[in-house]
Formats: sequence, structure tokens, C-alpha cells
Amino acid sequence: MASSGPYPFARALITGASSGIGAEFVHLLGTAGVPCVVVARREDRLNELAASYPGTEVLVSDLGTEAGVARVVERISATSDPVDLVINNAGFGTSGKFSTLDPDRLAGEIALNITALTRLSHAALAKMVPEGRGWLINVSSVAGFQASPYLSVYAATKAYVTNLTESLQAEVAGNGVKVTALCPGLTRTEFQEVSNTEGFITSFPAFAWTGARMVAQAGLDAVIAGKTIAVPGALYKALVSTSSVTPRWLSRRISLGVQTLRRN
Ligand SMILES: NC(=O)c1ccc[n+]([C@@H]2O[C@H](COP(=O)([O-])OP(=O)(O)OC[C@H]3O[C@@H](n4cnc5c(N)ncnc54)[C@H](OP(=O)(O)O)[C@@H]3O)[C@@H](O)[C@H]2O)c1
Repeated sequence: MASSGPYPFARALITGASSGIGAEFVHLLGTAGVPCVVVARREDRLNELAASYPGTEVLVSDLGTEAGVARVVERISATSDPVDLVINNAGFGTSGKFSTLDPDRLAGEIALNITALTRLSHAALAKMVPEGRGWLINVSSVAGFQASPYLSVYAATKAYVTNLTESLQAEVAGNGVKVTALCPGLTRTEFQEVSNTEGFITSFPAFAWTGARMVAQAGLDAVIAGKTIAVPGALYKALVSTSSVTPRWLSRRISLGVQTLRRN
């Protein structure tokens, strides 16, 4: 299979391509001449990307639904114009006290962040492993490394994503397939509006924010290098490395303190 530009990929499929980190993946790959299959619900945004990068394929899909997931599974499994890089990026969070949140919204969050990501990871590896070639990036979060009161379900979904991805990488290691969990810290995108964490924008200093393009680039570099976990930015690398030696009770206290500061 022919590769394109500076990247070894022949064709990429990116979920959540209509905004934020997902759109930055498309800009990086599209600029380098890698054709992309762009997946999200907002067709107008996907069409704008397609207008910018010839060869872009628009796949409108609601990954919170079984039919939407099935459509993307079918595309990943297709043998004509095959994709060899799959980026599971679509995701959202819900901020607030767990007992007061809308349970249907939380179920939708789990359906997207966990169920859809698992189905699409399976479709990708079911094709890539027998071929002995392919790349899979699952977008997780630094929130998944510790409990996060007031973002509890989101953090739990991301703990799942990181753990699943580590296991998958261990299963495929040495087979020619590479799997990476990309774990960004705070990144200014539409995520803050969607997850009701706009308070973060004013409560956290500029140095705490990572650029969406830098995050996407770090993900591409990491999966090519075969890194299992990629944490973009020196600050978040340091935080994640200390979190593994911090007692869980202390992590919870710090996390609760940060959230309380933000909410006041
Ligand atoms: N921003 C941060 O601070 C941060 C930090 C760590 C991790 N992350 C993770 O990074 C990933 C990308 O988030 P972002 O920051 O770029 O947020 P964003 O700007 O809100 O983008 C989210 C993307 O997901 C898509 N999406 C949402 N629900 C969907 C559904 N039901 N079906 C299909 N697509 C859906 C959205 O497209 P449509 O609305 O058009 O469907 C959009 O393209 C997420 O997994 C997020 O958890 C973000």
C-alpha cells in the first residue's frame, strides 16, 4: 500500500473531525496529502474540510447510535480505498455533581466514549492484525489517570480508554500494527462549551493550555514511533509521571481541590 508525504499512512479515518483536535488531525494529514475519511454529525463542517483537501471522504454519522457506529465499522472494514490509520477522537464530557446530572446524557457519553470507541477499535484491529500493518490512535485524557470529582463519568470513560488501549498495544506488539492512547491535558476547543467546563478557561493559567494542533501532531508522531501512551506537553508529562507515585487519597484531594477552585 502506498504511503503519503511524510507519513506512512495511505488513508486515515478520523472520528470527531468537525472540530478541535479531530479537525487538526485532518489539517495535518490533509496538508501532507494523506486522504482522510472524516466522521462526525455536522455535515457542513465536514464538507468544509473536504473542500480544502481533495480526496476527503465525508461520512456523516452519529456515533451515539448503533446505526451510526455500524456505518463507520463498515467503512473501516471496506477493502476498496482501505484505511490504515484509524483515529478514535470523538468524545465529550459532562461537568457537575454526579447525582444531579441527566442520566440520559451520561449514558450517551458512555455510548460514545466507550462503546463506539471499542467497536471501532475492534473493526480496525480485526482488519489490521491479519494484514500485519496499520495504526490506531485512541484519544483519551490525562483525566483518566486519577479520579476527577465533578467530571466523574468522563474521567472514568477515559480511564477505560487508556487501559483498553494499553492492553490492545500489548496484544499486537511486534505484529506490525501500532496502537497509541493519546492523553491530552487542557486543550482549548469546543470541548469546554460542550462539557460545561468553560470555567476552566479563566481558572487555569495560559501555560496550562495545550494547542490542539500540537496535540494532534504528538498523536501522529507517537503512533508512528509505536509509543503506547502519549501525553503532549512537558507540564502534563510531569503531572502524569507524579500521579503514578502519588497515593490515591492524595490524588483525589488534589483533584477535588482543583474542581472546587474552578467552581467558586
Ligand atoms: N479539549 C480538551 O481539553 C481535551 C482534553 C483531553 C482529552 N480530550 C478529548 O479529545 C477528543 C476531542 O475533543 P475536542 O477537545 O476536540 O472537543 P470538540 O471540539 O468538542 O470536538 C468533539 C468532536 O466529537 C464529535 N462528536 C461529538 N459527539 C458525537 C457523536 N455522537 N457522533 C459523532 N461525533 C461526535 C464532534 O462533532 P459533531 O458535533 O459534529 O458530531 C466533534 O467533532 C475527545 O475525545 C475529548 O474527550 C479533550
